[in-house]
Amino acid sequence: MSKKPLILGIETSCDETAASIITESEQGKPIILSNVVSSQVNVHKEFGGVVPELAARSHIEKIDWIVQKAINDSGAKINEIDAIASTAGPGLIVCLSVGLSFGKAFSASLNKPFIAVNHLEGHALSPKLNSKLDYPYLLLLISGGHSQYLSVKNLGKYKRLGTTIDDAIGEAFDKTAKLLGIEFPGGPQIEILAKKGDSNRYNLPKPIFNKGGCNLSFAGLKTAILKISKDIKTDQEKFDLAASFQKTIIEILYKKTKIAFVEFEKLVKPKEKKFVVAGGVAANKEIRNMLNNLCIKESYEPIFPLIDICGDNAAMIAMVGLEKFKLKQFNNLNYPAKPRWPLDQDAKFLKGAGVKL
Ligand SMILES: Nc1ncnc2c1ncn2[C@@H]1O[C@H](COP(=O)(O)OP(=O)(O)OP(=O)(O)O)[C@@H](O)[C@H]1O
Ligand SMILES: [Mg+2]
Repeated sequence: MSKKPLILGIETSCDETAASIITESEQGKPIILSNVVSSQVNVHKEFGGVVPELAARSHIEKIDWIVQKAINDSGAKINEIDAIASTAGPGLIVCLSVGLSFGKAFSASLNKPFIAVNHLEGHALSPKLNSKLDYPYLLLLISGGHSQYLSVKNLGKYKRLGTTIDDAIGEAFDKTAKLLGIEFPGGPQIEILAKKGDSNRYNLPKPIFNKGGCNLSFAGLKTAILKISKDIKTDQEKFDLAASFQKTIIEILYKKTKIAFVEFEKLVKPKEKKFVVAGGVAANKEIRNMLNNLCIKESYEPIFPLIDICGDNAAMIAMVGLEKFKLKQFNNLNYPAKPRWPLDQDAKFLKGAGVKL
């Protein structure tokens, strides 16, 4: 029986310090041996958003014991680790530098390969930790900084079909929460409040709903929430606005996903139609339910990460590391941190109002 690879993943791109060890079974099924995530919510709460300098300091304070805990929890010995995979981008440069430097130093001291990982590729591969998933597939990446439809042909081979031209969906959830007076990070709270509200009470705009293919836009929706939130006086109005916002997001995603299905099939002509939804917002159960039902209607197989693997974690970084390790795709120790690192490097930069779609 040959030794199965043990991969250490490290993630510090934003406000989570995380480390994980994964391996795989004899049948090639990934196995999470440990998954340690330390959130900095309390560090940033009073500022209503992530403060880069404080985030970096917090990563520096915690990175060594988080990695130590991941190794201890896994039951593995340090010298059994076969490769170290660290997030190299995209993210806040001061934060990325911490996990990247730590991973490189670890790799040099153990004399084991180093693998630089794109954080978004981590999200893209995150469902492989709990589901069998072969290429190609259509990916909807909905996170705090990104909202994109991508055709995933293979590891590292992405074609963007649509993207947001302004805010990301996670950002829209967080900003709506802030306007409703919910403490940072409020996105997940919107889902809870929406359960108590009437989703038909407020008629909210759906920017570029009838144009722009499967591109997305949420800035106009945010402005509408800003105006309405000024007149909100009761808790019930608050619940109703949360519910109306979430319903609007769901209607936008329903329509845009149908368009993405058509574009994906035209581009790839897949034998099996697979639809992966990943990123922090993929934890939202109402969004999951709607996309599940749409997949049943359109003969797609819906594939989601485990709920606690939707947000930032290092198991998904180790997952990319595992695939790259098997292909011997290693990186030099001078690999730079990349604040901007799109999955589809050839995609045009689409940004802002006035973009002609
Ligand atoms: N249940 C939920 N409903 C809606 N949004 C949610 C839910 N849970 C988490 N989110 C949102 O997910 C986002 C965090 O996701 P994630 O950690 O993947 O983003 P990020 O790492 O900050 O951004 P990126 O991955 O694009 O760099 C936040 O905006 C958060 O509000
Ligand atoms: Mg993320």
